[in-house]
Amino acid sequence: MRTTVGIIGGGPAGLLLARLLYRADVDCVVLESRTRDYVEHRQRAGMLEQGTVDTLREAGAADRLHAEGMVHNGIELRFERERHHIDFPALTGGRTVTIYAQTEIVRDLIALQLADGPPLLFEARALAVEGADSARPLVRYLHAGREETLTCDWVVGCDGFHGVAREAIPASVGRTYAHDHPYAWLGILAEVPPSCEELVYARGEHGFALHSMRSPSVSRLYLQVPVGTAPKDWLDERIWDELAARFAIDADWTLERGPITAKSVTPMRSYVHEPMRHGRLLLAGDAAHIVPPTGAKGLNLAVSDVRVSSRALAAWRSTGETQLIDRYSQVCLARVWQATRFSYDMTRMLHAQPDGDAFDQRMQLARLRRITASRHAAAELAANYTGLPLPE
Ligand code: FAD
Ligand code: DHB
Repeated sequence: MRTTVGIIGGGPAGLLLARLLYRADVDCVVLESRTRDYVEHRQRAGMLEQGTVDTLREAGAADRLHAEGMVHNGIELRFERERHHIDFPALTGGRTVTIYAQTEIVRDLIALQLADGPPLLFEARALAVEGADSARPLVRYLHAGREETLTCDWVVGCDGFHGVAREAIPASVGRTYAHDHPYAWLGILAEVPPSCEELVYARGEHGFALHSMRSPSVSRLYLQVPVGTAPKDWLDERIWDELAARFAIDADWTLERGPITAKSVTPMRSYVHEPMRHGRLLLAGDAAHIVPPTGAKGLNLAVSDVRVSSRALAAWRSTGETQLIDRYSQVCLARVWQATRFSYDMTRMLHAQPDGDAFDQRMQLARLRRITASRHAAAELAANYTGLPLPE
């Protein structure tokens, strides 16, 4: 098969890129190793920056998001049994965030793509990218039991952290920066209305907890657990007891409990690969960088990479010029490092450090007290959380 842009990975990055290219009249093919059902049910992100919502609208993929997404004006921080509201519009000149599950974004994009878009192949696993530094890179992939070749002008690796695209960048030209955080998150979905109107980030004595939501009747909650924890290690009753303890405040508030319908454990890692382009291969989203989920930045970064790459590829298609593509890695990495810093700081401020001492705990509380006491400190959190400006 032959195409202009070969996209590896049908997660949010790959599917959105395909949609933006389709609207810019650039043809492409998406190869996704899993089944449609699998990618539509993979529970992950839920918090969208304003710029992410705007980009999905530009892609013509925001009808259901506008109808069902929940616009939030802030978050709540809890520590030392107190609650503190961080008011985003007041601190940022009117910015908000939207809660809409990644599963729903993926479903919306797949439906559009299958209705009128360029080819999207499920159960098509890329094996390798070859000739990244030539004029005709190609992707070798397995589909329906046969090895096939996709010849392209450009390849974009949107194949997540465990994908193959990154491997096509020689070690001699690439460099990785990584930090593994010494804890994990146990995430649950529960059939119970959220116990709060806003997302709650809690620093409990025994660790972090996050209360999020998926709809007025479904809650999404996360709990800091030790590295190596398996979901079956935690019975439902124990999860609810621990969540209730970590969210506890000296006010009249109860965590409502309900049936748990999904449970999974996520490691916490910060990782950046530089550069994000080698020859005719570009990396976007988790294929190039991973952040711990505390700042809710992973999906949002994937969307901003894709926005930049779609514009650069469309400009090349209409003018033959590569100036924007030449700047792709540098432009994306500037934003990636800011999100990496913010996610790292949020993570360190809110989690119990397994090797931490009493001094570290006082530092965490001093940071939280500063945010709740100073409008400047709160505005800095709000600016990062709602999303730093998208590159033009
Ligand atoms: P992925 O979603 O990983 O998609 C990659 C795709 O490539 C997959 O479909 C995979 O099957 C496919 N693939 C892999 N290898 C191959 C191959 N060889 N050939 C073909 N296809 C392949 N981010 C936020 O912004 N906000 C949040 O609130 C948030 N919360 C999170 C909570 C949790 C618990 C977790 C785990 C993550 C969270 N994130 C959040 C991060 C976010 O989910 C990811 O950053 C996002 O999924 C990245 O999208 P992607 O398309 O780059 O990668
Ligand atoms: C969600 C996940 C996050 O990591 C976060 O910081 C906020 C919300 C979520 O899944 O809803």
